[in-house]
Amino acid sequence: MTKFEFSEPKLPKNGTVVVGILDDRKLTPSAETLDKALDGTITRAMAASKFRGKKEQTLSMLAAGDYDRVVLLGLGDPKKLDDQQSQKLGGIVLAGLNGAGAKDATVMIDGTDGSKLSAADIAANMAAGAGLRSYRFDAYRTKEKADKKPSLKVLTFGVKDAGDATKAFKPLSAVTEGVFLTRDLVSEPPNVIFPATLAERIHELEKYDLDIEILDEPAMEKLGMGALLGVGQGSAQDPRLVIMRWNGGKDGDAPLAFCGKGVTFDSGGLSIKPAGGMEDMKWDMGGSAVVTGLMKALALRKAKVNAVGVVGLVENMPSGTAQRPGDIVKSMSGQTIEVLNTDAEGRLVLADVLWYTQERYKPKFMIDLATLTGAIIVALGEEYAGLFSNNDDLAKKLEAAGKAVNEPLWRMPMGDVYDKMIDSDAADMKNIGGGRAGGSITAAQFLQRFVNKLPWAHLDIAGVTWSKKDAAIAPKGGTGYGVRLLDRFVADNYEGN
Ligand code: BES
Ligand code: MN
Ligand code: ZN
Repeated sequence: MTKFEFSEPKLPKNGTVVVGILDDRKLTPSAETLDKALDGTITRAMAASKFRGKKEQTLSMLAAGDYDRVVLLGLGDPKKLDDQQSQKLGGIVLAGLNGAGAKDATVMIDGTDGSKLSAADIAANMAAGAGLRSYRFDAYRTKEKADKKPSLKVLTFGVKDAGDATKAFKPLSAVTEGVFLTRDLVSEPPNVIFPATLAERIHELEKYDLDIEILDEPAMEKLGMGALLGVGQGSAQDPRLVIMRWNGGKDGDAPLAFCGKGVTFDSGGLSIKPAGGMEDMKWDMGGSAVVTGLMKALALRKAKVNAVGVVGLVENMPSGTAQRPGDIVKSMSGQTIEVLNTDAEGRLVLADVLWYTQERYKPKFMIDLATLTGAIIVALGEEYAGLFSNNDDLAKKLEAAGKAVNEPLWRMPMGDVYDKMIDSDAADMKNIGGGRAGGSITAAQFLQRFVNKLPWAHLDIAGVTWSKKDAAIAPKGGTGYGVRLLDRFVADNYEGN
């Protein structure tokens, strides 16, 4: 694990140093000082290369003067250097230094003219971005060679007002810890993470002053959660429902509610999925992992809100006890559901989770997250998550938060014409629409039938939960998408002042 430190802006005399260059090869003050100390080597190196100081460009100079390595970091247009851009730059610097084998380095941060952020905020966000990029899931690698492991132990940011940077870094690193927990949970294999063990992992959050309650199968039976239980009945692993509460707001204030789909493995059940890619369905508990990571982040940064997270944990398996296509189950709401495809299981789980949350906690609103449909990947790819809501104000706030942290949402339509598509001849509704048309929308319509008048939003995160390629602040694998978004959504709208 890389350590991040902030100290006064003094250029080191040797080792590895990173300095910023603005658009059109304009040197920042630190770069200028260093260039002089190196008899113009920086200017010459830039002239000999394509490096122009464009954002995210880098140029490494080895064995320059007494330095092992001088890294020129393109900052681009200072007016566009905001918190998210700073985080990206931090992630790029960290990946570059690890790739180069550096053990420690100093990044010089100058307050740039025209930037919206103070030098301290740029430093804090660069450190946060570097931290997010530094994530690794290597618990099961027993033979990795030392030179394949990340080399960077300490990254120091040289910045005026290092104290302010340290202070600004604190809540950001709380959120990073939440993101890391989410990434850990989705990365774990499905023989390790199943409902009982996932519930145990969540239980560990008690040490951060979250209240945790776990319902087992008999408790859910008593509540009449026939929709959720039907999904789990083919598995040797019993389902769980886990409730996390954070009470950082006023006593008696209605909580914000976050619900998550936690299918720890989705084989499809008797409507079994094809073999190719089925391993991806270990992260079908991604929604529950985001809710868990978010609750941890809120607790770590002592958010001034009351929040409740509720996750439905089940394994969807085929077996002699499995749910059959054609089965009719009764949900906790009393509504009956004809299960025509056992692979459309997420909505069955959430039906009872949403109903339970709304009845028991009378929240201000409910937001659910689910890797719900392949159709949302067809519609939006892997950049945007799908947003469905019965409330324009809630939707706008979520869209704004997503934009602010580069976890964008695209609002999808809903309406009666889509709702009709899930009417059943045999029960109150069926769990799939007619054909493939509008598959993400009919899934959302299904969920909405378990929400009364409450403001509600559904985030279909099937396309954004896992990535096969590295990004600036997220190595390939579990992205943690949703934790930073919802943390920002809470901070910007519900914590007063
Ligand atoms: N967990 C899947 C959706 C999914 C697909 C998530 C790909 C991530 C990547 C969900 O339970 C599912 O199987 N949905 C079906 C619904 C269909 C049977 C109506 C789908 O999308 O094909
Ligand atoms: Mn499925
Ligand atoms: Zn699923």
